[in-house]
Amino acid sequence: MIQNPASGIRHQVCFCYTARMKLLFIADIFGKPGRNAVLSKLPSLREELGADFVVANGENAASGAGITTNIAERMLAGGVDVITSGNHIWRQKDIIPFLARSDRIIRPANYLPSNPGRGWTVAGEQGGRTAVVNLSGNLYIGAPRGAFQVIDGILAEIPPEIKVILVDMHAEATSEKVALGFYLDGRVTAVVGTHTHVQTADEKILPGGTAYITDAGLTGPHNSVIGVNKEIIIRHFLTQMPVRFEVADDDVWIEGVIIETGPGGKAGSIQRLQIPV
Ligand SMILES: [Fe+2]
Ligand SMILES: [Fe+2]
Repeated sequence: MIQNPASGIRHQVCFCYTARMKLLFIADIFGKPGRNAVLSKLPSLREELGADFVVANGENAASGAGITTNIAERMLAGGVDVITSGNHIWRQKDIIPFLARSDRIIRPANYLPSNPGRGWTVAGEQGGRTAVVNLSGNLYIGAPRGAFQVIDGILAEIPPEIKVILVDMHAEATSEKVALGFYLDGRVTAVVGTHTHVQTADEKILPGGTAYITDAGLTGPHNSVIGVNKEIIIRHFLTQMPVRFEVADDDVWIEGVIIETGPGGKAGSIQRLQIPV
């Protein structure tokens, strides 16, 4: 463990307590390669890691854009406890009624209350009940309300007996994610950034006991430009002509983080995962 004595931030794993729970967060699942990786590996991964609760960002699970009801149901049956999402959540229209009826898939809480679905949920077995909150950033990514402006109200609504709270902050700007981590430090178990599909190496435990990472990465094909066929994207940047995105298909990895919780819902450790499939 390396601790900065001035800030109190811990930059490496600490096993100096008895873990109460292990939370596995799976980074944005991209297309068929990503979802096949999760469906085939999650049962054994869950066992190997001793994960008690699994959250996966599914906003790109259907052809890189959105998620269908069929895919969501297979993810939930395959070992994912809660699916989070982001700016692509409306891309597959058939998910809308499922968002309204299922409490195991959520969309950003700072969309409008009148939008289909919910922005936070509580799931898991007795003794391991976990709240999961989904937020969208506001810089370079559309969300009708501010993430910072809605989160206090959401935390006040979560029943006080729920101590473990994970926030998926789906945002483009690193500054927004870093700031939210500090804003929520000591009030939630973890703030995990998503959306950029590039895993950052800044996982840490903040001074108040919140686990933090700016981006959990990409679960899908890495021989790609953030999941998409790289030749198509290069052609687009060269010509600025519109292109049809195609999901890449090789060098598939599962990425994410595993977080151990200590007493009172504080985080004891956070570790990045990069698992080749
Ligand atoms: Fe994504
Ligand atoms: Fe996104």
